[in-house]
Amino acid sequence: MNVQITSKLPHVGTSIFSVMSRLAVEHKAINLSQGFPDFDVPQTLRERVSHYMNEGFNQYAPTVGIPYLREQVALKIAKLYNRNVSSEHEVTITCGATAALYTTINTVVNPGDEVILFDPAYDSYRPVVEVNGGKTVHIPMLPPDNATDWDKVRDNISDKTRLIIINTPHNPTGSLLSKGDVDTLAEIVRDTNILLLSDEVYEHVVFDGLSHHSMLCHDELAERSFVVSSFGKTYHATGWKLGYCVAPKHLSQEFRKIHQFVTFSVVTPIQYAYADYMENHPEHYLNLPQFYQHKRDHFCNLLKDSRFSLTPAKGTFFQLVDYSHISGKNDEDFARYLTCEVGVACIPVSVFYDEKPDSHIIRFCFAKDNSTLQKAAEILCKI
Ligand SMILES: Cc1ncc(COP(=O)(O)O)c(C=O)c1O
Repeated sequence: MNVQITSKLPHVGTSIFSVMSRLAVEHKAINLSQGFPDFDVPQTLRERVSHYMNEGFNQYAPTVGIPYLREQVALKIAKLYNRNVSSEHEVTITCGATAALYTTINTVVNPGDEVILFDPAYDSYRPVVEVNGGKTVHIPMLPPDNATDWDKVRDNISDKTRLIIINTPHNPTGSLLSKGDVDTLAEIVRDTNILLLSDEVYEHVVFDGLSHHSMLCHDELAERSFVVSSFGKTYHATGWKLGYCVAPKHLSQEFRKIHQFVTFSVVTPIQYAYADYMENHPEHYLNLPQFYQHKRDHFCNLLKDSRFSLTPAKGTFFQLVDYSHISGKNDEDFARYLTCEVGVACIPVSVFYDEKPDSHIIRFCFAKDNSTLQKAAEILCKI
């Protein structure tokens, strides 16, 4: 007998990232779909992990994260964003950014609350809002630069609006919020009870001399923000699943109440290794813009004689391309065709929208070895 269960997410299937990565394996396609590097974690960092494992740092960490790592995060925030956050009260180490996003939404959204998202929106946000009885309000980004439509934000704010979810640098479009955007956001939420969840996992992956405008740089916004980042994205170690959330003390207190029952605490030796590496190798994250800009430029250059059209991304691991000159298929069909028949896996962008646009745009991940990008581009230039 099948014991029945009522689905909390009846409309949700398997994440597009799992689907495309599985298809890539099945069809032996070059995987430019999911956002993970195919090159290794820095050797010194791997050595620090085995060092701490071999030295016996293998039992539960404090639930909010080891003090050494929280201090290093606070020092980095002071250095990059000129804000002093309390490592004791305001920084919490989580199981990847994903757990920080989940816990934040779980902490603040109650049944009937509205949450503003910008489409295309990373796929972790909406289901968690819905599981908590909230309602998402979707504001499409504006073509051609995927700018934020602040007038629409103003129009959509109601007395039910509890949270606005920001993602900068933005996955999947590769766009960034400017200083002007952040000031406008501050003006919109001033004198309201609206909180912000700012997903900044690509904070160190910003190109062409542009700056990342963290909510932590802004006095007013920092007071109402949960800022989330990912060690996995910064240190080429997405499989280690470590992230963090920074929020003012009273917000962190509530966040930590939920966090302790989601994971209790996260992997101990890796926390020590990251802390040690952050302290001794700050050049790693300081060099990241240049490292990834080189990959973006390399990939765009390799595609310049292809029939894809593209505007180089301003940040993230991702390059959007328009394939209208190649096919009239919708993007999900085209992505499957490219993966299963042509041999390069990608992500269709319409899946990140509430109302699917009639566009012909797919996303490639260029966080790959140059040889992988070269092989993929050779195939893509032939179609
Ligand atoms: C925008 C965004 N947020 C969060 C995450 C999840 O990060 P983590 O692997 O640290 O859970 C990702 C991963 O792709 C992402 O692109």
